[in-house]
Amino acid sequence: MQRFDIICPCHFGLEAVLKKEIQDLGYEIARTEDGRIIFHGDPDAVVMANIHLRTAERVLICCAEFEARTFDELFEGVKAVRWEDYIPRDGRFWVKKASSVNSKLFSPRDIQAIVKKAMVDHLSGVYGVTHFEESGNDYPLRVFINKDHVTLGLDTTGDSLHKRGYRPDAGEAPIAENLAAALILLTPWRADRYLTDPFCGSGTFAIEAAMIARNIAPGLDRSFTAEAWDNFIDKKLWYKAVSEAHEEIKEDIRCDIQGYDIDSKVLEAARDNAKRAGVLDTIHFQKRAASELSHHGKYGFVITNPPYGERLETAKTLPGIYGDLGNAMKRLDTWSFYVITSYADAEKYIGRKAEKNRKVYNGMIQARYLSFPGPKPPKKVKPEL
Ligand SMILES: C[S@@+](CC[C@H](N)C(=O)[O-])C[C@H]1O[C@@H](n2cnc3c(N)ncnc32)[C@H](O)[C@@H]1O
Repeated sequence: MQRFDIICPCHFGLEAVLKKEIQDLGYEIARTEDGRIIFHGDPDAVVMANIHLRTAERVLICCAEFEARTFDELFEGVKAVRWEDYIPRDGRFWVKKASSVNSKLFSPRDIQAIVKKAMVDHLSGVYGVTHFEESGNDYPLRVFINKDHVTLGLDTTGDSLHKRGYRPDAGEAPIAENLAAALILLTPWRADRYLTDPFCGSGTFAIEAAMIARNIAPGLDRSFTAEAWDNFIDKKLWYKAVSEAHEEIKEDIRCDIQGYDIDSKVLEAARDNAKRAGVLDTIHFQKRAASELSHHGKYGFVITNPPYGERLETAKTLPGIYGDLGNAMKRLDTWSFYVITSYADAEKYIGRKAEKNRKVYNGMIQARYLSFPGPKPPKKVKPEL
């Protein structure tokens, strides 16, 4: 069976969470870089990573790495790759994206053109044709150049992995599903502890938490580009992985997850999303203002993404909203609060300094993940759901 280096890009700053996910799947990490993890695997690893990883952006097969400071070097480096190991005679291949940082070669359009030309040149020799019909399956390539070091990654995923398939109706300013999952996995929350999102919007945190609790693989309800690559990834691997993942779903788990919001319309969307994700019965959605946040239980978790001034009219209400959150912390004094926000005065109006303040990116917006951990529950008194 073929062995590859598999590249998984992720959100900057959250590499450790993805690394642990990959290790938990049983794969050996080759190295960690800013914004991506590289690990060793076979075709089955490609399948498992696409279906199971909650925090990755996509899964790429590394076809080659080399240094290039001129277009000639880039051409020769690409031409030397055994593309026939991946791309069949009728495959449709192109450079989906080229990016370059601190490198001599920087024009994405020129990089795309040279790489495609070199691939055609190599494959023409192998297949003995001068013209490619490209009438078969898609084989998109992504090219990264960092400090003149070129990486060629064949994209096995297609639409980014944050698109699980459950959220066509995102409310305003939704958080990416893979970012929400990473932020949850960064906390000590486990399925036997309460979890509330008082600003739930389209329900992303609640849904991701419920999927984690019930062990629902994030890729079960979507397709992947590499599903069609039966020239080197046996279709049976996909069927097997999907059927095993279905068997591993915990149907009877008890957990206590709430999503609140003041907007009834977004709550409707959140319920529809949860239904599509198969976790509606695991989450309690309700219309409730953050000022009314309360809970009968102890030692729970609030994980949330409050408004951060994404619209002018909300900007004026921010001091009040963050003040409500601060008051909730006083009422729920055994709870832990985790807040992602790009509102600079968040801590000022919450009235408390975060114990940890981690820089993360929510799309293009730089945000901070503020941790206000509460006390640990006494060993014997496990909070009962
Ligand atoms: C940044 S969005 C949350 C997005 C959410 N994480 C998602 O993925 O869709 C903030 C949400 O807070 C809600 N909101 C604003 N003020 C509120 C308040 N005082 N109490 C409760 N919810 C509020 C808004 O309706 C909006 O849905």
